[in-house]
This record gives sequence, structure tokens and C-alpha cells, in this order.
Amino acid sequence: MNQLDDPGTSVLMRLGKFEILRLLAQGSMGEVYVGRDPMLGRDVAIKVIHTASGMSPGARERFATEARAAAVLNHPNIVTVHELGEEQGVLFLAMELVKGEDMGTLIRAGTLSPRDTLEVLAQVCDGLAVAHRHQILHRDIKPSNIRVVWDGKNLQAKILDFGVAKVINSDSTDEGTVFGTVNYMAPEYLQSGHPDARSDLFAVGVLLYEALAGVPPFDGPSPGSVIYRLLHETPAPLPPTAFQGVSRDVQGLLNHALSKDPSNRFQTAEDFAGALRAAKDTSWRWRQDHPTVAIQIKRPKGRGVDSPTPPRGMPVVSASPKAAPEPARSSVPPAKAPSEQPSGRSEVRRDLLETTRAQLMQALEIDPTNPRVHALLLVTLYQLGLLESVIWIIRSAREKGLSAQDLLAVPRCEQVVQEEVRAARLSHKAHAEFMEFFRL
Ligand SMILES: Nc1ncnc2c1ncn2[C@@H]1O[C@H](COP(=O)(O)OP(=O)(O)OP(=O)(O)O)[C@@H](O)[C@H]1O
Ligand SMILES: [Mg+2]
Repeated sequence: MNQLDDPGTSVLMRLGKFEILRLLAQGSMGEVYVGRDPMLGRDVAIKVIHTASGMSPGARERFATEARAAAVLNHPNIVTVHELGEEQGVLFLAMELVKGEDMGTLIRAGTLSPRDTLEVLAQVCDGLAVAHRHQILHRDIKPSNIRVVWDGKNLQAKILDFGVAKVINSDSTDEGTVFGTVNYMAPEYLQSGHPDARSDLFAVGVLLYEALAGVPPFDGPSPGSVIYRLLHETPAPLPPTAFQGVSRDVQGLLNHALSKDPSNRFQTAEDFAGALRAAKDTSWRWRQDHPTVAIQIKRPKGRGVDSPTPPRGMPVVSASPKAAPEPARSSVPPAKAPSEQPSGRSEVRRDLLETTRAQLMQALEIDPTNPRVHALLLVTLYQLGLLESVIWIIRSAREKGLSAQDLLAVPRCEQVVQEEVRAARLSHKAHAEFMEFFRL
């Protein structure tokens, strides 16, 4: 028998050949279960996405990209992917079940010594080195995507979740989730949307700081404030406890890793791994050959990122670390997208869209004439059901001299336009304005 759900309870029982044993965790794209391969008698981790819950074609593609990317990589520090499958609308990825803890848990518990931290991250760099050699970026290095297995003697790090991985130079990613987890994103990734291998290494630097200091280097009450700090601020020096049993020059190594300018960072994962291992020796000294300089960010004339003036009538997320007003929430109450029923998954999806919206608003503050940001905002607002705001995006695009073609260059935007043509979700007047802009 080949079934997914027990119809009475909606509990997932089986996926393909795998028996589902229990829920392991809920991630942003779906759940992770512990499953069993009855043929081989081994336990596996199964990540599922229920297409029936309204998964966008983009999310589906990202999921498949994750599988393809990870499947070609064979390395002890990268999770092994066993199978990508689909059953009755449920897309799943069966992979090695990695024991141990995720790095976020270890950091919160304070159980990683500075030496262990250097070793774990050196292994992460070993894994990334192989991925980068295959022209694959991870793009979402963060604590929950690193698991650490401890066998009583040795530590082993495993990189999980090439969830937003992208083959370098491939142009297939066009989604609203250009943005991974913002706290670990390199400045150039935030600004251009185009990461390279050095952007993954910046994220490792953020992890290094967080594990050694116990707090993230760039943090704040809103995505905007985090982005501001990532772009402009130098984190506080490491506390003295960070150097117990390791070289004091870890600070110099870290400054190098967190340089705003990618050309002043480690250029390869191999180099970073080498420095991390060397720093486990207390007598090791860091020599920084390249000065660290802050990169200039492209700002609208006459306005600081920390004192944004919103485009007229547009929803705002403040870049200031102190306040994050979001007038859109009061002026335009978030309407529920008709397809979304209140459920755990739709809430997670909605949360993701909200975060994406906030990040895109910030990106618009930084680069107000960017057509891609306009297009992605239009898509995100439409998906959130913030239909009146969709028209403000159209007006903003028009004011900035952007054409319908500029926006339609983002394939997801084209899909939303087609959806509006079909479903006419906007009000009568707004629909007419929308159609006029897209010349339909
Ligand atoms: N193969 C695996 N073996 C063991 N645990 C896993 C495996 N894959 C994921 N996990 C754990 O399941 C949890 C959820 O992972 P998931 O990737 O779904 O979400 P996330 O990393 O929190 O967020 P995102 O969806 O943005 O990656 C994490 O703690 C992760 O460490
Ligand atoms: Mg993950």
C-alpha cells in the first residue's frame, strides 16, 4: 500500500518506501521527520513540503535545487542525500539522519569551547570548499543548518540544507526569497542579491563570532536594523572568555572574516579552514596583509538609511535599530489570501512572506530604483493579500521610470500578473490601473 496520510488523523504514515516514525522539527519550508528505510533497515531524515498547502513554483524549484545541489556533493562534512521523491503532491527529500545537536542549540547552551568552535567551523569550511569547487554556494549558512556530532572523542560537523543553494552563474533563481536568513548575509549579498563563495565565508565568520561571544555580531529588533549593522557597523570586540585555550589572534582572524569588502576576506574556504585550525595553537599569530575597509553602499541622495523617508503611501520598515514602525499594517490591514486556511504551515509561510516583505522594503530604501526589488515586492504583497499596497508598488515603479518590461523580467512577477488577469483580485479601480501599467 502506498499511502501518505491516515485519513482520520492526517498523520503522515509513509512516503514512498519510507515509513514515517516521528516529527523531528518544523522548518521554514516544511517539516523534517525521522523515517525508516525498511529495505536497508536504516533511519533517515525526511524533509517534506506539502504542495497542496500552496507551495509556489519557486519554493518547489528551490526544494528540488537543494536536492540536486546536495546530491552531487559527497563529503563527510556535508549531509548525504538519499532520494528526492513525490507522492500525491507531497515532495520529500530523504537524507542521512544526522545525530547530535544543531549549532544553534550548542551556542545557546554554551557547550562549545573556543577550541571546539574553531574545529567545527574548520570542518564547515572543508565542506564548503568542496561545494565551491563544484560551483555550488550554500547561501544559507546559519546555526540550524550545521549539526555537530560528538562521539565522546571527536567532533564532526555536517552542513545541512543546501536549501537556497544555487549553481554559481546559473540564472535560475528569481524568487522573493533572494534573502536567506538576514543575520548571516554578507553585505554584498544584501546589496546586489548576488552572493559568491566569499559570501558563504562571511556567514561562517558570523557563526564564529556568535559561537565565541554567545551573541550574534549583528543583531537588532527588526530585519532593517540588522541590515543596517551588517552594512555599517563593526561588532564589539570578543570577550576574554572567547580566547580560552586558543590564540588571542582569533580576533584578527575574525575581523578579516567579517570584512565588509569581500576582497579583504578569506578568498577561499581552504584558507579560512587553515587559519581556524592554526588558531587552535595559543602561540599562533595572525598577520593581516590586507587592510579592512568599509564598502560604500548605494543610497538615495539626501537620505540616510537610518532616517528613511518612505516612498509616498508605501509600507515602511525602519532601518533604525530603535524603532520599526510598519504603517502598512495599520493603513492596509493584511487581508488573508483566499487560498490560505489558518494552519501551522500557512502561518509559517505567512511569516516568511512578512520577513521577505520587510527585507525588500529595506532593500528599496537602499536602492529605490531597483526594478527587481519592485517586482519582488509586488509578488510578495500580492501573495500576502496586501492588494492596495500592490498599487503603490506600481505607482512607485512608474515614478521611478521603470517599465512593465523591467518588472516582468522577474518570472514570478509575470506569474502574478497572469493570476491577476485571471482572478481579478484587486478592486475594480486598482485592477484597471494594474492592467494599464502592464498594458494588458
Ligand atoms: N538530515 C537531518 N538530520 C538531522 N536533523 C536535521 C536534518 N535536516 C534538518 N534537521 C534539523 O531539523 C531542524 C529544521 O530544519 P529545517 O532545515 O527544516 O529548518 P531551519 O534550518 O530551521 O530553517 P530553514 O528552513 O530556513 O533551513 C533543524 O534543527 C535541523 O538541524
Ligand atoms: Mg535548515
